[in-house]
Amino acid sequence: SVVDSKLRTGYHFQPPKHWINDPNGPMYYNGLYHLFYQYNPSGSVWGNIVWAHSVSTDLINWVALEPAIYPSKPFDIKGCWSGSATILPGNRPVILYTGLDPRERQVQNIAYPKNLSDPYLREWVKPDFNPVIAPDDGVNGSAFRDPTTAWRGPSGHWKLVVGSKWNKRGKAILYRSRDFVHWVKAKHSLHSARDTGMWECPDFYPVALKGTRGLDTSVYGHGVKYVLKISLDITRYEYYTVGKYYHDKDKYVPDATSADDNTGLRYDYGNFYASKTFFDGKKQRRILWGWANESDTSDVDKAKGWAGIQMIPRTILLDSSGRQLVQWPIEEIESLRGKHVVVEHKRIPSGGFFEVTGIDSSQVCADVEVSFDVSGLEKAEDFDPSWATDAEALCGRKTADVKGGVGPFGVLVLASANMEEKTAVFFRVFKAYHKHVVLMCHDPTRSSLRAGLYKPTFAGFVDVDIAKTGKISLRTLIDSSVVESFGAKGKTCITSRVYPSLAIGEDAHLFVFNNGSTDVKVSELNAWEMKKPLMNGA
Ligand code: FRU
Repeated sequence: SVVDSKLRTGYHFQPPKHWINDPNGPMYYNGLYHLFYQYNPSGSVWGNIVWAHSVSTDLINWVALEPAIYPSKPFDIKGCWSGSATILPGNRPVILYTGLDPRERQVQNIAYPKNLSDPYLREWVKPDFNPVIAPDDGVNGSAFRDPTTAWRGPSGHWKLVVGSKWNKRGKAILYRSRDFVHWVKAKHSLHSARDTGMWECPDFYPVALKGTRGLDTSVYGHGVKYVLKISLDITRYEYYTVGKYYHDKDKYVPDATSADDNTGLRYDYGNFYASKTFFDGKKQRRILWGWANESDTSDVDKAKGWAGIQMIPRTILLDSSGRQLVQWPIEEIESLRGKHVVVEHKRIPSGGFFEVTGIDSSQVCADVEVSFDVSGLEKAEDFDPSWATDAEALCGRKTADVKGGVGPFGVLVLASANMEEKTAVFFRVFKAYHKHVVLMCHDPTRSSLRAGLYKPTFAGFVDVDIAKTGKISLRTLIDSSVVESFGAKGKTCITSRVYPSLAIGEDAHLFVFNNGSTDVKVSELNAWEMKKPLMNGA
């Protein structure tokens, strides 16, 4: 049937049914990870939004609790929208979220756990003194939402930003507080950028210049840079910049290497939105949660009774270049790895491919890591500099079926036996004036024989020196209707939702292909079948 329950994901976060969107208030507190998220308790389209709540000891197995925050007071009666958690000194968690008041004005509210000795923090109290931040005269009350986790600088003040816009200028409006209850708007926003429209779900946090540790949001000092991420309502993409933050002036200045507009760096060049990071005190890392919408029709969403998933949490670090972030699925995900196959030193001639077999019903829930040796770079196609700002358009023209010089090479996932259906995940190498340019793509244009699906190609460039290393790696997490890929150890990430009609269950296959005119070599491929964790009682 069209509505095949086999399209439901196995190890991506999902409630048993209904609509979900943004991850909210993720935190680690007293041995448990909490995830709240935007949820419609009565349907599989957006609406009636509450904060659903789940807990986990490992970010893999989840137990669903009752919704934590739901409309009940004048300051949130028309909706409980996105927000963040902050852990105050003395180990006291608090949540700030956006409420919609009776006039649908967006205001920021505070909520506290009712009982700190309840290990699950099931009940949350919203004091009557809310809202703690209301839009004043200089603020557009219908574009004023999604407060960040607060941080504390050398002055001892708490600070946070709220996403907004003024005409077409996107803004992160800054507020300060001594006591976390009384908030005062700063004279200048933390940052803004012209023609970017509403900044949804801003996120602002420090990253270490060196090492593999994440930083708590209030850490400052030497060896620290900052990241500002925003979600753009008009393009449905996120972008981030890496930059400097001047605590005394509360000013953020992106580095020259970070484009400060919607052509900028992205966490993910595909279906990934409204993301949020948190500091995990248990393992001293910063973890990124992001939401992927369905790209099926809303009629099918209604028929299948669910819509939206959270992507696998990713650890996030500053790359050694200092120019961008790198992301990697949290290590806990490896505990789901089951049956394993290995392929080594396999040459794929021009136009060739091979099937990866041996992980049974496998390929619908799999973790695949491939390392390619690339040579013959003199055969790379010429790169037109005008392509540099639009990887996606380039991939749309040069899909997996378009023969190249070096590449396209990569994997075909969720493929039917005869490849009538397949989602291609691949690289293509170009020769620019005095360097090589590596493009990474998701091409789902042939992912399903079904009509009416949204199947955009997605792409990003990969900042690697391929002439020097002669290698590039790819990791892809496959989960029924999700393909989540990490190029070059997490420098470029792409997520797609696909809905095969043949390549489901045991009929899903995995291939490695090379449609370039030079050979490539798989120096090593590891593929694991993925087990299903406990997922909210589904
Ligand atoms: C982003 C968003 C947020 C808002 C929430 C409402 O997806 O539009 O700006 O708070 O979703 O559900």
